[in-house]
Amino acid sequence: MANPFPTFLPSSLIFFSFFFFLFSPLTAAKTHRFARTISPSSLGLDGEPEKLSHLHFFFHDVVSGQNQTAVRVAAAPATDKSPTLFGAVVMMDDPLTEQPEATSKVVGRAQGIYASASQSELGFLMAMNFAFTEGKYNGSSLAVLGRNTVASAVREMPVVGGSELFRFARGYAQAKTHSFSAVEAIVEYNVYVFHY
Ligand SMILES: *[C@@H]1O[C@H](CO)[C@@H](O)[C@H](O)[C@H]1NC(C)=O
Ligand SMILES: *[C@@H]1O[C@H](CO)[C@@H](O)[C@H](O)[C@H]1NC(C)=O
Repeated sequence: MANPFPTFLPSSLIFFSFFFFLFSPLTAAKTHRFARTISPSSLGLDGEPEKLSHLHFFFHDVVSGQNQTAVRVAAAPATDKSPTLFGAVVMMDDPLTEQPEATSKVVGRAQGIYASASQSELGFLMAMNFAFTEGKYNGSSLAVLGRNTVASAVREMPVVGGSELFRFARGYAQAKTHSFSAVEAIVEYNVYVFHY
């Protein structure tokens, strides 16, 4: 009677089970070198309570004139025919000041992009960093990613992270239009963030 199993089977079984073991998730957890769990104390965070900070400043979006701080960098062929400027993409480097006046102390800049993302109302996708330059906050930043329907009285955008003093930041930013002209929009921001 012929052997129903080819003679190479036993050794190939060993071969495949060896590879299964090598690449199984169980083994992978032990062999990966690029990621590991560490203790919060290794970052000086042991028992450190999270702080809640409130930041208040005015954002100056200057869209034309000599001191323009926001420039349109892209648009769709139909953007200028759209009542909501759907498809327009604007790059900004807008000063943030303590008070609404342009002469007020600058505490940082809002650097990033806003893009018209709604066809039914004026609604921007905001992707920006608040880069602070004042006092102990100099060099620290907050990252904001959210939706800004500029005609609404108050708009809320998530703060998704931060750097330096704002490491591990999470929170939200509320924007309220202070004044508006063909040249400049001044927006009051109240930002609430948890961080260490
Ligand atoms: C532009 O900024 C300069 C310096 O701050 C200021 O003197 C000037 O009045 C500004 N120009 C306009 C059109 O706001
Ligand atoms: C902020 O930090 C930069 C870089 O270290 C420095 O050049 C600048 O003078 C600082 N500004 C203030 C207001 O402290």
